[in-house]
Amino acid sequence: MDKKINVALLGFGNVGSGTYTAFKENCELISKKVGAEVVIKKILVRNIANARRVDAPAELFTTDFNEILNDADIQIVAELMGGIEPATEYMLKSLAAGKHVVSANKAALANALPKFNEAAKAAGCMLRYEAAVCGAIPVMGAISRALTGNEITKVSGIVNGTTNYILTRMAAEGAPYADVLADAQALGFAEADPTGDVEGFDAANKLSLLTAACFGVYIHPDDIDRTGITGVTMDDLKAAEAADCKIKLIASSEIKDGKVCASVKPIQVPAESFLGRCGSEFNAVQIDCNMAGPIFLQGKGAGPEPTGSAVAGDIIEIAQAIVNGTASKQPETAIL
Ligand code: HSE
Repeated sequence: MDKKINVALLGFGNVGSGTYTAFKENCELISKKVGAEVVIKKILVRNIANARRVDAPAELFTTDFNEILNDADIQIVAELMGGIEPATEYMLKSLAAGKHVVSANKAALANALPKFNEAAKAAGCMLRYEAAVCGAIPVMGAISRALTGNEITKVSGIVNGTTNYILTRMAAEGAPYADVLADAQALGFAEADPTGDVEGFDAANKLSLLTAACFGVYIHPDDIDRTGITGVTMDDLKAAEAADCKIKLIASSEIKDGKVCASVKPIQVPAESFLGRCGSEFNAVQIDCNMAGPIFLQGKGAGPEPTGSAVAGDIIEIAQAIVNGTASKQPETAIL
C-alpha cells in the first residue's frame, strides 16, 4: 500500500504493549479497513533497557518526547502512559502541533477535560479516548455517536475491572483480599498504584468522562461522592450471598432536579441482575435513554489486549478520517 499513516505510542506498559499487539496481529486487516498502512513509527519509554512484556524492534524506542513532537510525519499520538503529568503536557503539546490524540488515560482526561476539548477544537484535531472508559467496551462510541438521538437520563454500572475481579474471587472462593489484589496486578488489570482502583478513584475518573459524554456536564472527579472497596469484609460478602445478592462497586450518574448526582460506592445488587451477573474483570454499563430505552453493554474492562483493542479502534477511526480528508471536522465530546 502506498499511503502510510504514522502513529507514535507514548508508553509501552500494559496498554501500550496491548495496542502494539493489536496492530501486529491484525496488520493486514487494519490496512484494508483504513485504505492505508498504519505504522507504529515511535514508542516513547522511560528507560530503553527495561524488560518488556511484548517484543518490538529496538529502533522504535525513544526516551525523547521531542523526537515524536517534531516529527511531522507522525500524525497520531496515542498517550498510554497513565498519570496526570507529563501525560497532560504531552497531549496538549501534540494537539498544538496539529497531531490527533488518542488516550487511555482517564486520570489526566478527567482532571482537565474542558481544557483538552478546547485544545483539540483550537487545533482542528481529533481527540478520542474510548480505552479510558471500561476497557474494550465501546461505551464512548455508543454515547457519543449511536445514542445521540436520545436524552440520556442515567448511566450506571461496574467500571473498574480490578475491584470487580477482587470482589468476585473473594465472594466465590473466600480468597484473601491481598492475594487477589496481587493476582489482579500480575494480570495487568490494576493501576500502577492500585490505591486508584480499590479506593474508587479510577471509577470516579471514568464516571466523570461518562457524565460529560451523557449529559454534557463536566464534573471533576474530586467532586464525585466516592467510597472504595477496602471496607468490604468477608462477612459483608457472605451476608450479601445469603440475601441472593452480590456486592459490586457501582458508579452512577443522573440528573436530579436539574443537578448531576454522581457517586461511586459498593452496593448490593441482586445476584441474577445484569450487574450481579457481571463478574471477574468484566465491566457492565447500563445507559437509560428516552427513545432507545435501557442499553446494556458488557465486556472486558481491563487487561492489555482488551484495552489495546479500544485504543486501536480509535487510531483506526482517525486514520480513516485522515484518508477521507475529514479528520479535522470530527466533533469531540461536547461540554454543553
Ligand atoms: N485499573 C483499571 C481497571 C484498568 O481495573 O479497571 C482499566 O481502566
